[in-house]
Amino acid sequence: MTVTIVGSQLGDEGKGALVDRWGGDADVVVRYQGGDNAGHTVVEGGEEYKLSLVPSGAVRGKVGVLGNGCVVNPRTLFDEIDGLREKGLDPDVRVARRAHVIMPYHRVLDGIEEEVKAEDESGTEVGTTGRGIGPTYEDKVGRRGVRIGDLTDRETLRERLEYVVPQKRALVEDVHGLEIDGTDREDAFDVDALLEEFAEFGERLADGGMTVNCSDFLHHRMQAGDRIMFEGAQGTSIDIDHGNYPFVTSSNPTAGGAAVGSGVGPTVVGQGEVVGIVKAYLSRVGSGPMPTELDGDEQEEALADFIREKGGEFGTVTGRPRRIGWLDLPMLRHASRVSGFTGVAVNHVDVLAGLDELKVAHAYELDGEVIETVPATAEEWARCEPIYREFDTWDEVDWTAVAEAGYDALPEATQTYLAYIAEEVDADVYAVGVGPDREDTVEVVNPYEKQ
Ligand code: GDP
Ligand code: IMO
Ligand code: MG
Repeated sequence: MTVTIVGSQLGDEGKGALVDRWGGDADVVVRYQGGDNAGHTVVEGGEEYKLSLVPSGAVRGKVGVLGNGCVVNPRTLFDEIDGLREKGLDPDVRVARRAHVIMPYHRVLDGIEEEVKAEDESGTEVGTTGRGIGPTYEDKVGRRGVRIGDLTDRETLRERLEYVVPQKRALVEDVHGLEIDGTDREDAFDVDALLEEFAEFGERLADGGMTVNCSDFLHHRMQAGDRIMFEGAQGTSIDIDHGNYPFVTSSNPTAGGAAVGSGVGPTVVGQGEVVGIVKAYLSRVGSGPMPTELDGDEQEEALADFIREKGGEFGTVTGRPRRIGWLDLPMLRHASRVSGFTGVAVNHVDVLAGLDELKVAHAYELDGEVIETVPATAEEWARCEPIYREFDTWDEVDWTAVAEAGYDALPEATQTYLAYIAEEVDADVYAVGVGPDREDTVEVVNPYEKQ
């Protein structure tokens, strides 16, 4: 009995809010990809929790698992756990022994690569979160990574570091021609210092009984009758395989990732519910094409500013202002197919209240042809011209009252907008977000009750 929560667009669709909402009916919440590049916000009774690594279910006292598909920075992990403890919570977090570790040199390399791309003006700078995500997945695939299981075995950890650190050093010094010794990069490339710090993290993980063989652990929990929720991070259009490469993250936020990144079979994930989280407009943090971006003229920019301010569209991890655009249906159709959505939750409809106009890209025109889904290359995507449909706008209402009263209490124009989305993505609307708080959600279907 599983529910998988997937970002349908470019991340920050409000996944954390729905994981929190429905996580109340789950026993175990599993992150299956990504690392501390995520920023998931949970608001409970006015108290705001911002989580980048610990699964959002921790706020509700659920067991939180970081699956084998995740990349884990132990510094962030323990900072976050300590922060939650200070707020009076007692998070129970388990980490897959197969998950890869983000080492300090990965973060340094993430920064260097972005700088190099920015300097050569090739326009390929991704605008990463700088958390070392890409370089860590590179090492995973290159079979030179450090895994969580290695942290609890000092000799293996030393061997791994002695092999890999000189290579990273050479990359910085010989390929990029940058200094390490005598700079603030030094510690990140010092085998002994890394060994001390990370073996200590290993001890803390072991002492706390925090490491698990993820597939086994989840299997036993499910046999005992537990309900699993998979918490996707990022979104479909920044998926390494299905997004707008190269302006993507380095993992698979799409539903297939839930199986691979946790060790729960695709038949199990597929028998469950897969809910796409949709923002009622579009936001993007980082570079890459965005056909419906509101940046054409002063009027569009003013509208983007309005939505950005009202929706609080500033990166949770980096604080960067998010780029804003109209809802993009080709993107959503693609997302629904790739992950096999059984339902969608549409968030932020309150943010769109009171606008003078409301547009949606129904399709694109690409080189004279009309297409209804996204092209495979970023270059083609950048050439796409949106073909818009206009919708009636809705006024500001008492959203908390609407959330209590249910779907029929939503303004008629909002219902029309939602019905259109559901029809186009061929999935039912399970929930409508009308504000950031757990209670500010119009629930139509609780996916756990559907099964
Ligand atoms: P995530 O990364 O997908 O979990 O989303 P983020 O937490 O990064 O960004 C979503 C932001 O919107 C957070 O500040 C949420 O508290 C807030 N939010 C979520 N749903 C809604 C909604 O329906 N309306 C409004 N106004 N804010 C929402
Ligand atoms: P949540 O889970 C939005 C973006 C970065 C950058 C690209 C690659 O909160 O939705 P990375 O650091 O992953 O190598 O950066 O992906 N990005 C996100 N954008 N929400 C996120 O997570 C993101 N995680 C990464 O801005 O464009
Ligand atoms: Mg976020």
